[in-house]
Amino acid sequence: MAAIELNKVVKAYGGVRTVHGIDLSIKDHEFVVLVGPSGCGKSTTLRMIAGLETITDGEIKIGERRVNDLLPGERDIAMVFQNYALYPHLSVEDNITFGLRLKKTPRGEIQTRLTETARILDIEHLLKRKPRQLSGGQRQRVAMGRAMIRNPAVFLFDEPLSNLDAKLRVQMRAEIKQIHEAVPTTTVYVTHDQIEAMTLADRVVVMNAGRIEQIAPPQELYLRPATKFVAGFIGSPGMNFVSATLERNADQFSGVLSDGTRLELPGDVTRFADVAGQVVDLGIRPEHLSPGAKGDQSGNRINATAGLVEPLGMDTLVHFTIAGTKAVARVPPDGSLRRGTELPLFVDPQDIYVFDRQSGDTLHGE
Ligand SMILES: Nc1ncnc2c1ncn2[C@@H]1O[C@H](COP(=O)(O)OP(=O)(O)O)[C@@H](O)[C@H]1O
Ligand SMILES: [Mg+2]
Repeated sequence: MAAIELNKVVKAYGGVRTVHGIDLSIKDHEFVVLVGPSGCGKSTTLRMIAGLETITDGEIKIGERRVNDLLPGERDIAMVFQNYALYPHLSVEDNITFGLRLKKTPRGEIQTRLTETARILDIEHLLKRKPRQLSGGQRQRVAMGRAMIRNPAVFLFDEPLSNLDAKLRVQMRAEIKQIHEAVPTTTVYVTHDQIEAMTLADRVVVMNAGRIEQIAPPQELYLRPATKFVAGFIGSPGMNFVSATLERNADQFSGVLSDGTRLELPGDVTRFADVAGQVVDLGIRPEHLSPGAKGDQSGNRINATAGLVEPLGMDTLVHFTIAGTKAVARVPPDGSLRRGTELPLFVDPQDIYVFDRQSGDTLHGE
């Protein structure tokens, strides 16, 4: 197993940069997920680690070795792709052991490792089948088995669950996590799905347009997003944003919306002193808007009128507009809620994020 180090890694295609100098340190045993919208450079970054793309500039190290000029086969990595890439004419067993046989590994050792791998993946009963006789989830497991049996220093995954239906995706997600708990090989996992990223990762790397926006453990990403982009990307439904003018009254700051609604902001004076009087973006998560005042929710009241109402069972999503901007609240189930219902919503000042209009950087936080 090994740590991975990316120093100022750049990828350009024909002079056009798609990855803009990425720095990333992945610890031995760590499970790191690269997440971001389609086209942001996740696969390119992963493929540079794998050696499937050349590195235009910068350096990549796996363990103590600089791997820039090493072939994929020399990097001690195993990669699992979205489309599994199994040999259709080979049995499961032969697919899994193919690489070891190619390396002339002794037969006894191949058998021992096959038995162990099949046990971890729970596919002992499938070993004689051909890939076409397997379900999508089973094929996914075989693809993982082929990677695991080589006992590589690093696992690389590129959207491995994207071809599975929703239910199987959730199941395989849990299995991948359990396998990593059992065999903690350093892993870099690429997905566009923020829930997959949050549930799997020790640390999440949020990418946007070829750059890293933030690297943090899942809970910190949710609680303390570094930028408006991260704040909007992590969480479902996403954070609501509305512009406001920052007003200062002694040590208390508030944001005044275009319709005159005044929202008290957390008392973190130093963060806001520079932007007093300016227009900022406020962010409020749907789950932080609650109907009816709770004890500590001071004066932050938003007079909403329910638009579209979406009952989810456990809770209900209510669409509304706040100062002319579309927003969503996640509220407890309420059978009497209809389009047009007057709905006062309350938000704790501590749950309001403030972003710089120009840079998108978060102004609130420790
Ligand atoms: N072979 C290529 N030639 C030119 N541009 C490419 C090539 N491969 C990827 N790109 C561009 O690089 C950017 C990042 O792509 P990619 O890493 O596949 O994104 P992601 O995996 O995050 O969806 C995209 O804008 C894509 O169009
Ligand atoms: Mg991709």
